[in-house]
Amino acid sequence: MTTLAESIRIDYGICSTCGSCINVCPNNIILRDADNSPIVRPGPECISCGHCISVCPTGAMNIGTIETPAQFADADVLSTHLKSRRSIRLWKDTPVTKEECEDLIRITSYAPSGCNSRPVKWVVINDPAKVRAFVSASAEFLRAVPKEHPMYGLAAGLLKKLDAGNDIICRKAPAMLIAVTHPKANQGTEDSIIALTYADIYAPAIGLGTCWAGFVMILLGVCPSLAKTLGVPDGFKPQYALLAGHPKYQFKNIPPRTMPEIFWT
Ligand SMILES: Cc1cc2nc3c(=O)[nH]c(=O)nc-3n(C[C@H](O)[C@H](O)[C@H](O)COP(=O)(O)O)c2cc1C
Repeated sequence: MTTLAESIRIDYGICSTCGSCINVCPNNIILRDADNSPIVRPGPECISCGHCISVCPTGAMNIGTIETPAQFADADVLSTHLKSRRSIRLWKDTPVTKEECEDLIRITSYAPSGCNSRPVKWVVINDPAKVRAFVSASAEFLRAVPKEHPMYGLAAGLLKKLDAGNDIICRKAPAMLIAVTHPKANQGTEDSIIALTYADIYAPAIGLGTCWAGFVMILLGVCPSLAKTLGVPDGFKPQYALLAGHPKYQFKNIPPRTMPEIFWT
């Protein structure tokens, strides 16, 4: 795989030789020339994090595709956004578009990942009928759980709700996004949870709501063949799933929460 180091062109005409790119490079692959100019050593040590491009104050370090300048949300705006995000369990009939799914997934490529390896891939089930088919297949599995199985109690509880028309598993969501990784990916679980968290937090900004799908994951854990009904490709591990759709209700107020306990040392 080619790294950013191979495509970066330094515009020495505007480089201020401030050395920031040299200092921020996590793998120290940018050297200082005799006249203080940076020289990029191409090679596999570059993890393509783009910090050199990001930090350059003059734009001298570029690959010709610099996005909008970096900028942070105002603390009040961001904290209100974070406090306002809610798990969504009731949905409008409005279908989720392919573009909305892609918007959610695109933002996750800016999430941190071990060595910037970005191992997370996505299975998108953007069809309410397919989500329902997964719930039906799950119910079928749950009905066959024998009494002596440790999951019997949970299975019975879930079935009671499902049979009463309460889709406790997928909350009748119109769409579901599953983060998957190759089983051998280092830190695939951590990277997936962080990527999903990015999508989860971004969703309300584009009018979508999400809910982490814990029961889906329990079911995929005890009955891996259910992953097939969701179209998870062979050889990939489903790490976690998010239900998604257009929220039926707007949550207008922020619920009270207590400060987490801290062990100062
Ligand atoms: C790992 C994880 C699994 C979850 N699984 C479910 C689930 O299966 N069904 C559900 O309705 N909510 C699920 N939730 C949502 C939590 O219940 C919710 O985050 C919590 O009640 C706080 O509400 P809030 O997200 O609106 O702040 C899950 C959340 C997390 C983080």
